[in-house]
Amino acid sequence: MVTIRAAVVGDGAEVARVYVASSNDGFGELMPVMVLDGGRVARWSKTVADGNWWVAEIDNTIAGFVGIGPSRDPVDPELGELDTIAVDSPYWRRGVGTALMEKALEQLAAQYDEAIVWTLANYPQAQTFYTKTGWTLTTQTRNDGHQVSYRRTF
Ligand SMILES: CC(C)(COP(=O)(O)OP(=O)(O)OC[C@H]1O[C@@H](n2cnc3c(N)ncnc32)[C@H](O)[C@@H]1OP(=O)(O)O)[C@@H](O)C(=O)NCCC(=O)NCCS
Repeated sequence: MVTIRAAVVGDGAEVARVYVASSNDGFGELMPVMVLDGGRVARWSKTVADGNWWVAEIDNTIAGFVGIGPSRDPVDPELGELDTIAVDSPYWRRGVGTALMEKALEQLAAQYDEAIVWTLANYPQAQTFYTKTGWTLTTQTRNDGHQVSYRRTF
């Protein structure tokens, strides 16, 4: 059974590990291989303690995490953004991502009227996931079309 709880600074190392591992497992050849190092752990430890991040636990192990905030690129304080969602690959396709998304959407809806999420073009894993969880593909792209965006209103 999956439990969603607010992230704390002490989750930084596990969150960083899940981020690196799930990105490498998911993105494959679409992105350069990521490395887990002390700088990344320090950055995630600071990031996840800001009150807008949650972890999913299964048997007291962090299986995934999610965070929200205002839109960063383009900067728009009125538009919410699903910042990052990641699930450790041994737990894929077990509903962990959906449980994290439910928490993120509840919190986005409490703070914003509309939200955006960016992902890679030609990446069906995330694109199918976002469509399944209620997001709609837009025509807004970044990085010469290498990133595509999804939006939803509340
Ligand atoms: C995308 C991700 C968060 C999904 O997490 P998850 O826990 O596996 O998601 P769920 O089990 O809740 O899946 C919900 C639905 O999403 C879709 N989905 C999930 N993974 C999929 C895949 N590999 N291929 C196609 N559809 C997929 C399916 O419709 C799935 O429903 P189903 O299993 O009943 O068919 C996870 O694969 C991940 O962390 N990937 C690496 C990092 C990443 O891509 N993050 C987002 C990029 S911006």
